[in-house]
Amino acid sequence: MVDIEAKNLSRTFEYYRKQRGLSGWLKFLFYREKLHAEAVKDISFSIDSGELVGFLGPNGAGKTTTLKMLSGILHPTSGQVKVLGHIPAQREKEYQKKFALIMGQKNQLVQDLPAMETFIVNKEIYEIPDQEFEENLDELANIFDIHNILDIQVRKLSLGQRMRCELVAALLHKPKILFLDEPTIGLDVVAQKNIRDFIKKYNQEKKTTIILTSHYMEDIRELCQRVIIINLGKIIYDGKLDDLIRKYAPYKLLKVIFNGNGVKLEEVEKFGEIDEFHPYACTIKTKRNEAKDTAIALLSSDLPVDDIIIDEVDVNDVIRQVFNS
Ligand SMILES: Nc1ncnc2c1ncn2[C@@H]1O[C@H](COP(=O)(O)OP(=O)(O)OP(=O)(O)O)[C@@H](O)[C@H]1O
Ligand SMILES: [Mg+2]
Repeated sequence: MVDIEAKNLSRTFEYYRKQRGLSGWLKFLFYREKLHAEAVKDISFSIDSGELVGFLGPNGAGKTTTLKMLSGILHPTSGQVKVLGHIPAQREKEYQKKFALIMGQKNQLVQDLPAMETFIVNKEIYEIPDQEFEENLDELANIFDIHNILDIQVRKLSLGQRMRCELVAALLHKPKILFLDEPTIGLDVVAQKNIRDFIKKYNQEKKTTIILTSHYMEDIRELCQRVIIINLGKIIYDGKLDDLIRKYAPYKLLKVIFNGNGVKLEEVEKFGEIDEFHPYACTIKTKRNEAKDTAIALLSSDLPVDDIIIDEVDVNDVIRQVFNS
């Protein structure tokens, strides 16, 4: 079943340019030069129920603008979008109850109050019946492990704890669709991993449809099978992450550790292109389908091989190649 259908969606922003200094301000009062920024240009995509799709793209690519159109915060300049049969910009109450937009850079929780207070406000906003509220909260508090921080003033929580509470606040009304805009921004690697695990668990248990934007490749690699890559407001790739990697990174990396006296460059060169060399650790680039054979050849050679790791090329490098192609 298709949950989200966007057709030829565009959004242009109008803004005014002001020249520098006082005279610039004076001119600005009387004459303003109107400029247009095409944040999203004619994009079309459809997302099935239960999919977890990654939105990728550099700063200013149009990701947040797209998510805002999908949640009805922004009207499209042209094109259509339907989410669960609703036109988001109409802001129907029924639709508000079916989705959640979570932005890592903005808080919904009131800083001076415990998270519980915001949860209660949301209960009223989304008209969640008492029993359902209690059940949902209990379940979410378990998933996100926040039972013992519910009554602490939000400003006293760590960033990771706050983000977990933000997610719970946004999920209390059991949205069918989640728009997650950089949910792991600014978190340390451990907290990032936690949030990722929670998102994964939530998507698997609840079969929620999720669109996720992140600049952290680990998030994308661990969570999304499908990615949509946006650049300058246009979609430049929509498909499986695996296919993208296969197409743009036909190589794998063999990280080989040596012991004893180590090795010389000439001794390893014959096994493939050398990416990095050190007498005790070197990285060899091999064709995808030759990685295993090369590893076996290394192990059965006279070289003092201690360990071999077969690794994928860094996804960041792959994405960079997509932008350059
Ligand atoms: N309210 C606005 N007025 C004018 N221009 C805007 C407005 N909001 C966004 N833009 C412009 O639209 C473009 C897309 O912005 P958007 O926030 O969607 O990018 P993004 O992909 O989310 O980037 P980031 O990764 O930095 O969050 C940018 O060029 C931005 O400057
Ligand atoms: Mg953004």
